[in-house]
Amino acid sequence: MAVWPASLLIAVLSFCEAVRAIRTHGGGGGGYVSAVGDPGMRRDGLRVAWEAWNFCNEVGQEAPGMGSPRGADCFDLETSAGEHGQPVYEVVHRVTDADNDLRAGNPFPGAPANATVTDVDRYAAAKELYLGGLCQVPDNPAPWQFWMVMLKNGNLDTTAAICPENGRRARPFPQTSRFPCPGGAGRCMNQPLVFHNRTALDDAGRWLRGGLFGTYELDAADPGSGDVSYYSVTWEKEVAASAGAGGWAFHHKLRTSNEYPWLMLYLRSDATRGFSGGYHYDTRGMTKQVPESPDFKVRVTLEVKQGGGPNSQFYLMDMGSCWKNDGRPCDGDAATDVTRYSEMIINPETPAWCRPSRIDQCPPWHTFRNGTRVHRTDAARFPYGAYHVYCSPGNARRAEQPTTYCDAYSNPQPQEILQLLPHPVWGEFGYPTAKGQGWVGDPRAWELDVGALSQALYFYQDPGTPAARRRWTSLDVGTEIYVSENAEAEWTLSGFDILVPDTCIKSQQEGTAGNSCW
Ligand SMILES: *[C@@H]1O[C@H](CO)[C@@H](O)[C@H](O)[C@H]1NC(C)=O
Ligand SMILES: *[C@@H]1O[C@H](CO)[C@@H](O)[C@H](O)[C@H]1NC(C)=O
Ligand SMILES: *[C@@H]1O[C@H](CO)[C@@H](O)[C@H](O)[C@H]1NC(C)=O
Repeated sequence: MAVWPASLLIAVLSFCEAVRAIRTHGGGGGGYVSAVGDPGMRRDGLRVAWEAWNFCNEVGQEAPGMGSPRGADCFDLETSAGEHGQPVYEVVHRVTDADNDLRAGNPFPGAPANATVTDVDRYAAAKELYLGGLCQVPDNPAPWQFWMVMLKNGNLDTTAAICPENGRRARPFPQTSRFPCPGGAGRCMNQPLVFHNRTALDDAGRWLRGGLFGTYELDAADPGSGDVSYYSVTWEKEVAASAGAGGWAFHHKLRTSNEYPWLMLYLRSDATRGFSGGYHYDTRGMTKQVPESPDFKVRVTLEVKQGGGPNSQFYLMDMGSCWKNDGRPCDGDAATDVTRYSEMIINPETPAWCRPSRIDQCPPWHTFRNGTRVHRTDAARFPYGAYHVYCSPGNARRAEQPTTYCDAYSNPQPQEILQLLPHPVWGEFGYPTAKGQGWVGDPRAWELDVGALSQALYFYQDPGTPAARRRWTSLDVGTEIYVSENAEAEWTLSGFDILVPDTCIKSQQEGTAGNSCW
């Protein structure tokens, strides 16, 4: 835990340089402001929440004794004068253990009893709003609530038909190797055990530390034992008044097991309202202004300590949004809403499935920043090595053939996924240009032009429809360890920020705030 100073120093240095660069190159000479509630994760009073999802981003069934799989650790650091005039700090929590223990059927404190939700899926969504209310911080142009730790269990019991197929009712089918369920029917899609260490000050009153950890093996005697799946996220920060204090550092671990070979762990900055990527309920989050392509940037400092094996799809930046194939924004109709994802996988062991002999795994074209477009059949110029895989939405009626359709079951709605690999073509957006960059042994502070990149990427739309607004309600970093037993990943993340043009703040000051603020 004491090995961060070097990377934090890089973060501080790059911060100054980057601000200049952005102001120089920003469109129309305008400035940039942070779109997140806690720019760079520097605020003493932390706001962090966690959520656990089954294969199709629902609850399905609560884990015994664990409550609904949503929780939060939100506090303010209050200062008073000690005996000798020295500052004395106190951590004042906004969320109680009783709040975190709430489970389907429990009334929310202060809410009328007739408002009680008994459906476990809907209850988790309602609990997120309740926790958001406790954690909310007033701000401009909108209040914000928390960073979100997301856990997802990749097991799918295909015989149970719990997860819809492209947003429509599914029928049961026999288990295939693509969808693991090692525990057997009815015993593989459970929610994890979650143990929470509430944030506290150390004895010297200098460091704030907290965390959560757990396992998916519900009968595990010792989650840390190595034989079972395991995850942990710990956060720590030196109180701001200490000389040289940095921001929060989030330390993550994720380990798969025989019974739970496919697991995900991310730290997300989700929109403070509306649907965020992959979710069809109103959510709470940290992103108070939703960034829109092409004009926004993301800063993050990442140190990968253990990669998680050859199948660890470590996402340096994972972005999630939602729009319909005709370009309209999503409205909660899971049959026509389409979740759109793109992420760069920085694990150097991840191969490019997209290649000249497999153009069904490539997007139809690649677009350079200058607008030049290269078709995937142009073997001399198409950058095959820049793409791990592309898959079309299951409901894309006019997808360019040949194509591979995305997994129909792992989201509440159809999805489209474009996965990138480090390659020279991404250099013009500040992304890794060679395998190994940002990986184990190469901690870095990144400033990614996610806005320009996400504008250039291919996403499907029905022919002749107006281009969708690409608004990224979820931006996150973490790993998806795909079917492998006993693989372990470990990383730290700090300094996360999203920068957007300051037009919204300006228009608010001038009293002309409209569309640009939300
Ligand atoms: C709950 O009860 C209150 C009054 O006690 C009533 O105004 C409200 O409509 C009820 N809500 C529902 C969902 O039944
Ligand atoms: C939780 O607290 C215990 C006791 O202080 C400590 O041993 C453990 O490492 C902590 N774990 C996490 C994940 O915070
Ligand atoms: C656009 O950029 C690509 C890649 O750098 C280059 O090959 C191409 O010639 C450029 N096109 C124009 C019109 O400048």
